[in-house]
Amino acid sequence: MTLLDLQRVAKTYGTGPAALTVLHDVDLGIEAGDYLAVVGPSGSGKSTLLNVMGALDRPTTGRVLLAGDDVTTMSDAALSRVRAVHLGFVFQQFFLLDGRSALENVADGLLYQGVRRPERLRRAREALDRVGLGARSGHTPAELSGGESQRVAVARALVHAPGILLADEPTGNLDQASGAAVLDLFDRLHDEGATIVVVTHDEHIAGRLPRVVSMRDGRVEHDTCPVLTGAVQP
Ligand SMILES: Nc1ncnc2c1ncn2[C@@H]1O[C@H](COP(=O)(O)OP(=O)(O)OP(=O)(O)O)[C@@H](O)[C@H]1O
Ligand SMILES: [Mg+2]
Repeated sequence: MTLLDLQRVAKTYGTGPAALTVLHDVDLGIEAGDYLAVVGPSGSGKSTLLNVMGALDRPTTGRVLLAGDDVTTMSDAALSRVRAVHLGFVFQQFFLLDGRSALENVADGLLYQGVRRPERLRRAREALDRVGLGARSGHTPAELSGGESQRVAVARALVHAPGILLADEPTGNLDQASGAAVLDLFDRLHDEGATIVVVTHDEHIAGRLPRVVSMRDGRVEHDTCPVLTGAVQP
């Protein structure tokens, strides 16, 4: 089964003459283990698409199936649960809490799972080890470099073992070396079986990923490895 299946997804902001359609009937399938870049000019709809994939935003029309379940018809509470269990997010801004250690920031990724504090901390330590920051777990964001902060954010996104990691310009605030370290981390996670979607402006990043989806004016212009989805099957 396709892990994430976008069927005829459209997104329109506003109504009447001011209405702006920023996604037009997008069909896109993502299989378990996929590792893909979403590229395209500024304003082409990349972040909107990622937000719809991650159930952060609802499409105006169309369906989004996550492991076969239609998330477009779920209540807000159910959507929050789906996000907390199945999805991990990484953004250009790291969104770490100041004044809290890396360990606590990562452990917070389990707050909505009903996991008790000792177990949260144990898993957070494990996730920080995975991103190579075990030795920095007591440091606060102010005591970490940008690249280290983003790796903490990746650990927080991974701590609940999500089915899909969604990243929007994850290297956008990083220098080249720190960005490369984050991408090396994604490569390793993908080798270990993770499913990862990376929105990026950067041709070099896109070029090293096994699949590239190019957006233009709210449409998928090209997909190097299209997946046959429910939308296009007979
Ligand atoms: N809340 C909103 N209300 C109205 N229009 C919006 C809203 N959010 C996004 N848009 C518009 O939707 C279009 C697509 O935006 P989106 O953020 O998805 O583009 P993007 O490809 O991620 O661009 P960038 O590379 O600059 O991040 C843009 O024209 C944007 O102005
Ligand atoms: Mg964007």
